[in-house]
Amino acid sequence: MASTGSRPLPLRGARVVVTAGGTREPIDPVRFLGNRSSGKMGNALAAASREAGAEVELITAAPPPPAATGMSVSEVETAGEMQRAVWTALGRADVLLMAAAVADYRPRAVSARKLKKTARELTLELVPTVDILESVRTHPRRARMLVVGFAAETDDLLANAADKLRRKGLDLIVLNDVGAPGVGMGADDNAVTVLDRDGVVLTVERMPKLEVARRLVALIGDRLPGREVSA
Ligand code: CTP
Repeated sequence: MASTGSRPLPLRGARVVVTAGGTREPIDPVRFLGNRSSGKMGNALAAASREAGAEVELITAAPPPPAATGMSVSEVETAGEMQRAVWTALGRADVLLMAAAVADYRPRAVSARKLKKTARELTLELVPTVDILESVRTHPRRARMLVVGFAAETDDLLANAADKLRRKGLDLIVLNDVGAPGVGMGADDNAVTVLDRDGVVLTVERMPKLEVARRLVALIGDRLPGREVSA
């Protein structure tokens, strides 16, 4: 493992793309469909990757962190915009950390004018957005990078996460129990379980998101293509 003095730099020289925040799918000029993601976990991963010696590109649908020094930041709004930014960034990436909460649906039509209130019911027709992680399976550089997904679950946690890992062709999946109090979306703390194709490889008890991110980054450093496993 590379280090400066006593500080290990598990991602020295690696190019890491991190997504953060919840995408917003417009309904009209003033309204959108969104979710409760704050961007804190993605921001923590970007900071921990930077600290670990990586060159970081943060693609965020949340307000960018005030202290995003030493990294490149791209702000996006919708799932479609995030997909385009991710594909471009992956042209020279070694790791994708897909922490964003990407909307699964968007309104079929976006009204150019503000929808006016009437006494009648209003039905919004929704169509699926692109699944960014699934699309990355066909990226020309896929075989040369480590792709990490995040699973926000409330039920059958391990089974759902393992299924998502296989379905999306991931190297690792970070499972978040979003139903647990004090952790996950919007909270300052997190507690996660990480799986690979063979099962659970790391469990991180509740702690601040930056500490969780540091532990994830150490694991990712061990698994980077072309580096030795130091376990
Ligand atoms: N994801 C993505 N593109 C989407 C939806 C999700 O790339 N359109 C990514 C997320 O960034 C995350 C992973 O897929 O890394 C899992 O997201 P999650 O919301 O837990 O899963 P979904 O595939 O949306 O499935 P479901 O909502 O049914 O649990």
